[in-house]
Amino acid sequence: MKGVLICGGSGSRLKPLTDITNKSLLPVYDKPLILYPLSVMLDAGMRDIAVVTGTEHIDQIQSFLGNGTRFGCSFHYCIQKEPKGIAQALGLAETFVGDSSVCAILGDNIFFDNLSPVIKAFKDGAHLFLKEVDDPERFGVAVMTGNRVTEIEEKPADPKTNLAVTGCYLYDARCFDFIKSMKPSPRGELEITDVSRWYAKQGQGQATMLQKEWIDAGTFESLFKAAELVRSKK
Ligand code: DAU
Repeated sequence: MKGVLICGGSGSRLKPLTDITNKSLLPVYDKPLILYPLSVMLDAGMRDIAVVTGTEHIDQIQSFLGNGTRFGCSFHYCIQKEPKGIAQALGLAETFVGDSSVCAILGDNIFFDNLSPVIKAFKDGAHLFLKEVDDPERFGVAVMTGNRVTEIEEKPADPKTNLAVTGCYLYDARCFDFIKSMKPSPRGELEITDVSRWYAKQGQGQATMLQKEWIDAGTFESLFKAAELVRSKK
């Protein structure tokens, strides 16, 4: 399995901090944010990892991560010229991933559960990680039927469940053909939720419920909460 760390986007909700650097390099207590999703991949044994980032601040990301030797892995960089969606960012790693399956993680997500057993056991289809939240309208929201994901909506005004789809996506290599066939959503992006829904509609969407904390650190409040949480666990 190959890893894809998705760190493009404009970081508009964190301006002016993201005028200075990429969101994923912002500090969370004592470490840059990107090290949290990266550690999920390293813990699960991935050693080939693509980092997708925008043109701004790419030099900072590269100078921090380097070629990966420091982390015991190998980094490959893909540039997303414009923030046209998370699925579009993932699509840029197609050649890098080849026929392997892929673990894509958003550069602003922090997981406190150990995802390794599920990642290592993944074979095909899609596997998502869900978390019960109080504010599902902020996220992709999943509906489960038995142990399958049967529906997913992106930031619904009236969510059908409180199950947020977190930013770690396991897909087989078919995701890339689907991404090539996608059309932009009304907000002009190729939505990762549409990729997951494509698998779900074929009965190939599995999910694991997270038991511990999970944070999407993409807002001032959640970034602050992330730092507090990390500190409290030290
Ligand atoms: O955190 C989980 C949520 O992440 C999911 O529940 C949603 O379904 C998913 O759409 C996403 O929602 P966000 O509103 O949090 O996405 P955001 O725009 O903050 O982007 C998440 C990461 O993806 C961020 O680190 C930047 C990167 N990104 C985003 C876009 C739009 C890219 O690399 N390229 C892009 O074009």
